[in-house]
Amino acid sequence: MLSAKVKFLGEYLANPGLIGAVAPSGSALAARMLDGISLTQAKTVVELGPGTGVFTREIMKRIPDPCRFLAIEKNPLFAEELQKSEDLTALTEIIEGDAGDLGPLLQERNLEEVDVVISGLPWAAFPGPLQEQVLNQVSEKLSPKGYFVTFAYGGIHLLPKARAFRKELEKHFSKISKTKTVWRNLPPAFAYQCRK
Ligand SMILES: C[S@@+](CC[C@H](N)C(=O)[O-])C[C@H]1O[C@@H](n2cnc3c(N)ncnc32)[C@H](O)[C@@H]1O
Repeated sequence: MLSAKVKFLGEYLANPGLIGAVAPSGSALAARMLDGISLTQAKTVVELGPGTGVFTREIMKRIPDPCRFLAIEKNPLFAEELQKSEDLTALTEIIEGDAGDLGPLLQERNLEEVDVVISGLPWAAFPGPLQEQVLNQVSEKLSPKGYFVTFAYGGIHLLPKARAFRKELEKHFSKISKTKTVWRNLPPAFAYQCRK
């Protein structure tokens, strides 16, 4: 676990704009992200930006078998590490790719819609057009009763860039609820759970 944290910090120092956080999220945040969302009937689940796989492992505990679970990671080192993790690969398809290509990645696999999309993406580091590109595709591919879940850091969510992102969420989703903050996460964070 320490080595995952060290690798994560190393990747952050090499490319802060891509990684967007100095440490991986904790398992308490992973569980909080999915508070109240049942995955037991899910047919297709997508994770964007799995990093070292903290959310991935929580999702895997909750999905049924069979369920199509894709995790899309842009950083080649993280993608390769996840692809080598035997505890993940049985149920998860780890794709080295860009969340901005979600639509084509689903199409290549003949997947029309997704029941739940869970994001670990560093939105604050994304320029507005990239945020819009990803959110357009997420809302287009989400099933009518599906959920899009993403996290934000407590306090920081009041800054202008984070408020602009919240507005972007409101453009794409009609119902947005906020979970309680996980104070023991580093930094403390909460999740937005969004529906169409
Ligand atoms: C803040 S880290 C979160 C990692 C992990 N989910 C967690 O919470 O610890 C952001 C992750 O998103 C990945 N990422 C950044 N831009 C991406 C993109 N356009 N497509 C897919 N993954 C991306 C980074 O490589 C990194 O693994």
